[in-house]
Amino acid sequence: MKIAILGTGNVGGALASVWTRKGHEIVFGTREPASVKVQDLVATLGKRAKAATLARACADAEIVVLATPWPAARETLESCGKLAGKLVIDCTNPLAPDLSGLSVSGGTSGGEQVAQWCGAPVFKAFNTTGAENMARATEFDVKPVMFYCGNDEAWRETVATLVEDAGFEAVDAGHLSSSRWLEPLAMLWIHSAYKAGLGTDWAFARVKRGK
Ligand SMILES: NC(=O)c1ccc[n+]([C@@H]2O[C@H](COP(=O)([O-])OP(=O)(O)OC[C@H]3O[C@@H](n4cnc5c(N)ncnc54)[C@H](OP(=O)(O)O)[C@@H]3O)[C@@H](O)[C@H]2O)c1
Repeated sequence: MKIAILGTGNVGGALASVWTRKGHEIVFGTREPASVKVQDLVATLGKRAKAATLARACADAEIVVLATPWPAARETLESCGKLAGKLVIDCTNPLAPDLSGLSVSGGTSGGEQVAQWCGAPVFKAFNTTGAENMARATEFDVKPVMFYCGNDEAWRETVATLVEDAGFEAVDAGHLSSSRWLEPLAMLWIHSAYKAGLGTDWAFARVKRGK
């Protein structure tokens, strides 16, 4: 698939590394496609990755992955041109600057706000574990879980495939409004990892009771 990843940071780089290995074509949508930082990242990923401006990257892509800090999300999406007809996967978490909680709550979520801003079908995914776990999901003894949610039935299977391609068990959490539960779940991971001493090398997994 042709995937534009908006943002060349931890999450963007991690997803690009696993998806290029699975044969997907990645174009980073970035503020500085020619910068040394971006060109070095592209060089590590091989011939299936390149970088372009936000609008250029999105123009050719079927799928657009939002992987910017929350405060930059709206402006980034508004710089992308028309996104109608494409799938948008929102990896962001609307974090308060000091990581003390979420800056969006009370009957909505970051995922739902992203959907309002971009005028395209949005799925929330890749927000509930650390970026390094996204790059190395296949290294866990038990397959880690990645919940996803969104409203567009035509794209649901595609999202599940991309989650599986990244090495996770894909679990459908229903409509986009379930972002209201996935974003606090991300907050639990962040709190546990950074404030409660668990560190970052763990992820959520699903286990089932036997008979
Ligand atoms: N880090 C994690 O473990 C993790 C896990 C799950 C979800 N998330 C969420 O995923 C999103 C991305 O996280 P990240 O850790 O990948 O962030 P990051 O390392 O800071 O990278 C974000 C990227 O966004 C782009 N960007 C666009 N506008 C920006 C601005 N005004 N300021 C800074 N960067 C800007 C930059 O790429 P260009 O300079 O190339 O434009 C930058 O490399 C966040 O919303 C975060 O909450 C993070």
